[in-house]
Amino acid sequence: MRLTILGGGGFRVPLVYGALLGDRAEGRVTRVVLHDTDDGRLRAIVRVLAEQAAGVPDAPEVISTTDLDEALRGADFVFSAIRVGGLEGRAHDERVALAEGVLGQETVGAGGIAYGLRTVPVAVDIARRVVRLAPDAWVINFTNPAGLVTEAMSRHLGDRVIGICDSPVGLGRRIARVLGADPGEAWIDYVGLNHLGWVRGVHVAGRDELPRLLADPALLGSFEEGRLFGADWLRSLGAIPNEYLHYYYFNREAVRSSRRAERTRGAFLLDQQARFYAGTRDPGASALELWNRTRAEREATYMAENRETAGAGDREEDDLSGGYEKVALALMRAVARDERTTLILNVRNRGALSPLDAEAVVEVPCLVDASGAHPVSAGPLPGHATGLVCAVKAVEREVLAAAESGSRATALKAFALHPLVDSVNVARRLVDGYTAVHPGLAYLV
Ligand code: G6P
Ligand code: MN
Repeated sequence: MRLTILGGGGFRVPLVYGALLGDRAEGRVTRVVLHDTDDGRLRAIVRVLAEQAAGVPDAPEVISTTDLDEALRGADFVFSAIRVGGLEGRAHDERVALAEGVLGQETVGAGGIAYGLRTVPVAVDIARRVVRLAPDAWVINFTNPAGLVTEAMSRHLGDRVIGICDSPVGLGRRIARVLGADPGEAWIDYVGLNHLGWVRGVHVAGRDELPRLLADPALLGSFEEGRLFGADWLRSLGAIPNEYLHYYYFNREAVRSSRRAERTRGAFLLDQQARFYAGTRDPGASALELWNRTRAEREATYMAENRETAGAGDREEDDLSGGYEKVALALMRAVARDERTTLILNVRNRGALSPLDAEAVVEVPCLVDASGAHPVSAGPLPGHATGLVCAVKAVEREVLAAAESGSRATALKAFALHPLVDSVNVARRLVDGYTAVHPGLAYLV
């Protein structure tokens, strides 16, 4: 079986390859094709993978190329994990928004819109090529903003594109653990959009254990989201939000602390990754050791920098990276081997979440087998959550429309309608600011 990874020179690729190395079952991936637009990054990652594979019998063969069509032709699975504009682009996304006094974040608010506007045209081009060159392939999209980008690709690939994120899985696992339940046995009732969802129930042996958690301040204080949102607020909500909801519920604090920070997350990573890729050029050094050190440093500071609230950045070892590579592998296995499983994924709604139309990509538990990922119908969200989900989906639709038409006025609408952008004039300056720094937005006229 052949897996193509787009963004194959990316820093998280060794996580995926590490998961593949551990898979000994029949029908596993035997060939990995890495594609990247940057040859230097590809070479660095190929070195890391070679060290990972050393001594592993039948390690999947690794091929790398900068030719996209060559990479896609004949693929069974395509992982899309690209970052259009690189980390430099991410740093711009954050900085331009913060300069206007609104949230500057990778995927949420103005930053996420700017990122979406330059990523959607590239993702659509990939989807079209997959239709032509690998029509039977399944596409697993990691590329952020993942819900929006998956929806853009689904307009060409239908339900053969499935979006994934590690955050709902990580949240479900942390909650199950504090409740003393086996995360594999608990049914996590999680619903929303990517980076905008809520856990409304944790069913263990037919019983909802969430009320027990919400009633216990000590339990709530014992995990990351419990501390992040605070026991009182969680009790008022009657649900546990995804950590990204912190940017909505505590927006003012998040903006203030990011503006005070010496540098943004993107700027930190830009610098850190530059050191990593440069370091791998030393033939005497172990690329894998350097990767391990860099990864530990990255994870230790995960999301901690932009938060005043205590609690982030102290995850347990098996929570590092939330295990996104595990979600990807579980999904691929279920589809390739018809091993029925349940995963929280980004798929077209098809009626699962009633206020949204059938084409809207949502993040919900899905039954997965060889026929794909089928969303499980979710009970209605409370009014405030429905409002937020609908408002953000409306913004995503403006981003998709702007990417399709190239209309700057439509892009402005996307910024102006976002709940975290508080004035149309701010939105105007955001469009000006972003188009000035991002070559990938030159198509907006
Ligand atoms: C989580 C999210 C991803 C996001 C990442 C940012 O894993 O699910 O969507 O890209 O965090 O982490 P970073 O280390 O890049 O700040
Ligand atoms: Mn994510």
